[in-house]
Amino acid sequence: MNVTFVESFQSKIFDFYQQNRRSFPWRMTTDRYAIMVSEVMLQQTQTDRVARRFPLWLERFPDVRSLASASLREVLDAWSGLGYNSRGQRLHRAAAMVVEQFDGQVPEDPTLLIELPGIGAYTSRSIPVFADNLDIAAVDTNIWRVLIYELNLPESITPKALMGVAEEVLPKGRSRDWHNALMDYGAQELTAKKTGIAPLTRQSSFKGSRRWYRSALLRELLASGELSRESIEERYADCPHDIGSIVDSMVMESMIEEYGEQRMLRIAGELGGGGEREEG
Ligand code: ADE
Repeated sequence: MNVTFVESFQSKIFDFYQQNRRSFPWRMTTDRYAIMVSEVMLQQTQTDRVARRFPLWLERFPDVRSLASASLREVLDAWSGLGYNSRGQRLHRAAAMVVEQFDGQVPEDPTLLIELPGIGAYTSRSIPVFADNLDIAAVDTNIWRVLIYELNLPESITPKALMGVAEEVLPKGRSRDWHNALMDYGAQELTAKKTGIAPLTRQSSFKGSRRWYRSALLRELLASGELSRESIEERYADCPHDIGSIVDSMVMESMIEEYGEQRMLRIAGELGGGGEREEG
């Protein structure tokens, strides 16, 4: 790519950022664990909601070890309202792996991060970008839209080709600011509405979906402690999905566990049950 073109693109983004930068609690820390938490929360939850919940999370689980040693119930309780409970569960597992494999230090290397549950291609790169100012590109749906639009790329560009472009336009030594700036530009100036570029993933409607029933069930179990299969089938008689199979999938994922002749259900790892993580 033409050097002058790249430089003028960088100036445009940084000029915008200087005037319009947003303030978020995760922008005040470079702690890699805290950044991991915020990036996982931001995967599908809006920034204003994460901005409210992230400080509370850090009060409750200030470091990797405190999260790893918490029960799944505590974690899901702290996660409630952030959506997609399995993301909270995966973050909990990721913390346990970091304690076991990396002595409680969240690694900087994206190839190690991507092995952790709940950490995908984007997040494995965004963590060291925001925590360590690492000179690599991280492309989420907002940054993807900005690059396509501002650099006149075809919407059909492959993720690999786009990553190449993203690396090429990255101003070395300013990776953290650059990514914050691209996100602010994408969120405030070059919105999806303005460009007509559809987001990469469209969230399917939630109410009445399987995920909605999973979430309702989990909330009930968090509130009541335990419920029998039978009572669940009664309560959810109106469910358009097979509620039994929804329960099965949650048991299989070790989100909840089943015990006793009454086929009682509870959050996995509660005291009294042979859950995954009892020590700690
Ligand atoms: N979305 C994902 N990561 C973000 C960040 N660091 N700031 C704002 N929005 C984000």
